[in-house]
Amino acid sequence: MTTTSAPVTSDAVIFRSNAGLGVEPIHVAPPGRGQIRVDVRATGVCHSDLHIVNGDWPANKPLVLGHEAAGVVTDTGPEVDGLAVGDHVVLSWFAPCGRCLNCAAGRAWLCTGTKALENTLPDGSTAYTDAEGHGLWPYLGLGTFTKSVIVPETAAIAVPQELPFEVGALLGCSVTTGVGAVVNTARVPLGSSAVVIGCGGVGLSIIMGLKLIGANPIIAVDLSADKLAKAASLGATSTLRGDQVDVTSYLQEHFGGVDFAFEAIGRVSTIESMPSMLAAGGTAVLVGMTAAGSRASIDPFDLADQGKSILGCNYGSSVAKIDIPKLANLYLAGRLPLDGLIGRIRPLDEAAAALEDLRQGKGLRSILIPS
Ligand SMILES: NC(=O)c1ccc[n+]([C@@H]2O[C@H](COP(=O)([O-])OP(=O)(O)OC[C@H]3O[C@@H](n4cnc5c(N)ncnc54)[C@H](O)[C@@H]3O)[C@@H](O)[C@H]2O)c1
Ligand SMILES: [Zn+2]
Ligand SMILES: [Zn+2]
Repeated sequence: MTTTSAPVTSDAVIFRSNAGLGVEPIHVAPPGRGQIRVDVRATGVCHSDLHIVNGDWPANKPLVLGHEAAGVVTDTGPEVDGLAVGDHVVLSWFAPCGRCLNCAAGRAWLCTGTKALENTLPDGSTAYTDAEGHGLWPYLGLGTFTKSVIVPETAAIAVPQELPFEVGALLGCSVTTGVGAVVNTARVPLGSSAVVIGCGGVGLSIIMGLKLIGANPIIAVDLSADKLAKAASLGATSTLRGDQVDVTSYLQEHFGGVDFAFEAIGRVSTIESMPSMLAAGGTAVLVGMTAAGSRASIDPFDLADQGKSILGCNYGSSVAKIDIPKLANLYLAGRLPLDGLIGRIRPLDEAAAALEDLRQGKGLRSILIPS
């Protein structure tokens, strides 16, 4: 069924320049062909939002921030046939085109036709304008730091109504990325040893994924005692303060190196040290994203001689339509304790404070509730 509606006004967190963030009312157009309007009920604050604010990645501006969200479908545009008003959805920041060779091969996370990474809707447009009528771009094709979003149907994944919105929001990015890094990207075998460096929303999700598939031991590394305590409660078998212990020496001394090392910070010097944390035949998985243009150096002889691998991980090598409902069902079955990832729940106008906490590594994942 197609529903029609007038444009609505909605407060949004806008990144206009490196000078900072503002909350402004924006106009949101009705859904176009293949698009839906979603009432955002919860949206997480991910380090990828902070990368934009920090100027680490080039992006078209002004930008409505936010890309990790869950909500309820309130309008459907023409030619929307898989979703209806009232459906609960998780938004995926990797809306695949469905036509490119990677989509055809079932690798939607490598879609070459998506416009999401260019921060536009699939037709190159935006549904958002400011009070002067100037366009505002949707971060990763979503721009979820606002109450009312227009997204392509392909970016919205229906989930059970009993899934809490805060948990659904985390399924939009950190959980799908982190658990996917373990089960899809690295396909970690039962009983493998693993280290996870960086225990934010993504790193803690990696730890949950490792516990789920029976990795052992699971060593968590962070600079924050609180994050490490949380990591232990979610499945880490030991924890290390990265600023107090030489992690590489510790892992070599106690375990002879580990089978898998996951980086979930996006820090070049950590990435450079990962191959030396591995046992022969081990795999380093790059999940954290560095600033654009960063370079890291490796020891190619060690990699070849010891049969080590380095894997890149985008969105946990996940196909949102398949993986997000699976993860939601694992949560509902009590197999993934995702409530443990949720930190402060704050109103939308505290986005800048939430990003500052993230910058300082304070607290668990903040969730913003637009009103
Ligand atoms: N590959 C993907 O598809 C994908 C998806 C989402 C996020 N990311 C990236 O993953 C990274 C992590 O995202 P997040 O939202 O979990 O961030 P976060 O800020 O919540 O977590 C980073 C963690 O690293 C810790 N840390 C910082 N410096 C450290 C050091 N020197 N040693 C040990 N720990 C240290 C911090 O205390 C924090 O707990 C970011 O770079 C983000 O852009 C990648
Ligand atoms: Zn994210
Ligand atoms: Zn594609």
